[in-house]
Amino acid sequence: MMRYVFLLFVVFTITACNLFPHAPKMPNPQMDEMYEKQISELISKMTIEEKVGQMTQLNIDVVCVGEVYNLQEPHRIDSVKLHKAIVEHHVGSILNCGGHAYPLAQWHEMIGNIQRVATQQTRLKIPVLYGIDAIHGANYVMGSTLFPQPLAQAATFNTELVRKGAEITAYETRAAGIPWNFSPVLDVARHPAWSRVFETYGEDTYLCTEMGRAVIDGYQGFNGTDKYHVAACMKHFLGYSGARTGKDRTPAYIPNNQLREIYLPPFQEAIKRGALTVMINSGEINGVPVHANYDILTTLLRDELKFEGIAVTDWEDVMKLHLNHKTASSLKEATYQAVQAGIDMCMVPNDYNFTNHLIELVKEGRISEERLDKSVRRILWVKQKLRLNSAPIVPSMKDYYLFGGPIFQKTALNTAEESITLLENRNSALPLGKQDKIFVTGPAANSMILLNGAWTRTWQGTDEKWDDTTKYTIYEALKAKNPNVQYALGCDILDKPVSDNSMQLASESDVIVVCLGEYPATEKVGDIDDLSFSRTQLDYVKALASLRKKLILVLVENRPRIVNEIADLASAVVMAYQPGDFGGEALANILYGDVNPSGRLPITYPRYNQSMLTYDHKYTETFDQKFANTAFNPQWEFGHGLSYSNVEYSDLKVSSQEIVQNGVVNVTVTLKNPSNRSVKESVLLFVRDHYASVTPAVKKLRQFQKIELQPRETRTLTFVLKASDLKLCDRNGQWIYEAGDFDVIIGQLKTTLTLK
Ligand code: BGC
Repeated sequence: MMRYVFLLFVVFTITACNLFPHAPKMPNPQMDEMYEKQISELISKMTIEEKVGQMTQLNIDVVCVGEVYNLQEPHRIDSVKLHKAIVEHHVGSILNCGGHAYPLAQWHEMIGNIQRVATQQTRLKIPVLYGIDAIHGANYVMGSTLFPQPLAQAATFNTELVRKGAEITAYETRAAGIPWNFSPVLDVARHPAWSRVFETYGEDTYLCTEMGRAVIDGYQGFNGTDKYHVAACMKHFLGYSGARTGKDRTPAYIPNNQLREIYLPPFQEAIKRGALTVMINSGEINGVPVHANYDILTTLLRDELKFEGIAVTDWEDVMKLHLNHKTASSLKEATYQAVQAGIDMCMVPNDYNFTNHLIELVKEGRISEERLDKSVRRILWVKQKLRLNSAPIVPSMKDYYLFGGPIFQKTALNTAEESITLLENRNSALPLGKQDKIFVTGPAANSMILLNGAWTRTWQGTDEKWDDTTKYTIYEALKAKNPNVQYALGCDILDKPVSDNSMQLASESDVIVVCLGEYPATEKVGDIDDLSFSRTQLDYVKALASLRKKLILVLVENRPRIVNEIADLASAVVMAYQPGDFGGEALANILYGDVNPSGRLPITYPRYNQSMLTYDHKYTETFDQKFANTAFNPQWEFGHGLSYSNVEYSDLKVSSQEIVQNGVVNVTVTLKNPSNRSVKESVLLFVRDHYASVTPAVKKLRQFQKIELQPRETRTLTFVLKASDLKLCDRNGQWIYEAGDFDVIIGQLKTTLTLK
């Protein structure tokens, strides 16, 4: 019997590993040539209507029973509407966003219906490309593994872990029969108040680039051509996160050199990595809506970056050129502007206006059929890459037996554990003692929706009906470790009055764990006027602090909500971000010291509403001694994060004090774990340019490594610093070398290097 169990274990482990090969991409030019030929033949047979249909993407609501946004439950396909879309209008792509998650069987039925009509009842039998937002796991598939949100994932500084999470997401998305994921968000979060900060990998371009690469690799594997991977969609090209006010989809003013230095690199890298699709920024830059910007969508994206995949619009964004941006005097003109600027597919998504207008524009000779062919070629190429033609109409669950299982859940738990960031730990307040009498309270203490955030089973993620009750809230997870834990809400997330015995329970406890929360929201719904935490929550913490107990402040939030009024009242502060279904358990493991915290802030945590600066600000924005100007004085800086081990850094050295253009130097640093627990440590290497023709930032992250040190271990770590890491983006947006001195900074250590 034991032998049998062991054999099963070995087979299971080997199979599980084989599903997730992490090997470099192997482009197959012959295969691409074969695709090219097939695609050209297909295009030569297509009518204008069929071509435009391929460029049309509809919301699933349009083909379901009921009204758009008000479908009849259980959601199901209306065969008459489906026929109209696929057979009469030749629609090539469908998505969903407004509805809710479905179990696998329901997905199989719906996708099966769609693909059967597309491949059996149309003249050309082209399968539909179904797309979905699987932002932190396959969140629209019931029973899937939910990961921490991307901002939290970035806090792990562990690209391999993040890649694994993306691979699991791809697997579970594909298990539902869906081959296209509208993720990752590669927007660099430069404004902490933006409602989509949690969807990003933080404020630093290099971190976003590295995480983006890992995620693209995870989603697409060998270019998305097998049944376990999906096409990635890098979004939102370009400059979406740069809105001046931080309000979603409002104007950004971005000079060319900043566009190229800050916002472009993650996309550039994702394209190099073979990302198959891109979604366009709904906003405007310098007065031009990006959906109508030829310079960005064609000159930059196609001519310069050589992107060959699909450029899909964002939701209703062609229509919005007319209705919101007012650059187009009619819907038809809006279609003209977007197509001529370079979009391939329009997420219309609720009517046939785009389709009809585009057909008219071609028939009138305003848009050429060759222009359509370019887009259709890209769409068919992605469909070929995903092998939609040969994929079974409905996936067989035999192929996806790991779906939602313990191996995947473990990765989600590890990701949550490595993301949670210990910001303060005064007098070693943490870890908690297992005998401590604990009172846990606050809006996030016993809520799954707050742990998960938006894009969880629904778009805004606010409906508790979809909670997975087998997963632990923070309170449940603490209680599972220590029966001596009491809970009361104390304070409501929506500021509704609460009257309970929280103050009494607090006064009877040894430790108060107060979990503040932000209500899940994204896009326009998440716009705010004030980055501070709500007055009710701040006052509640103050009341608890007046009891003079050990107070642990836990922050569960979409973005860094200002806490300067209360941060100093707490003995310890823990940033949990939105850590997902396993966040409660991960947090309990950290609070009790079963896991040593290792997350680092991927974004500067501001202290004041009017000082929302990033860590890589300019010298003129630093603290000014003379005028006591407090320009950069954040609550916690980007990269900050403590552990229970207090790793010591020493001996920062460069292999040569000089570096030539295109050269490299080795940077070494010694790390010592003085504690008797093992620790994961993110080691961040920054560079500071002393003088430059474009005012230099005070420092820039150029590399990082995450390592594990055993108890009492000392290790010397090497970074290979390239001269190109010292380049600067000049006034014209060109990356150039400028000779001079640079500081290399790791932890509190600094050494100097001269670029010749
Ligand atoms: C969002 C995109 C998303 C799309 C489809 C839009 O409103 O901006 O990020 O992919 O909806 O759900």
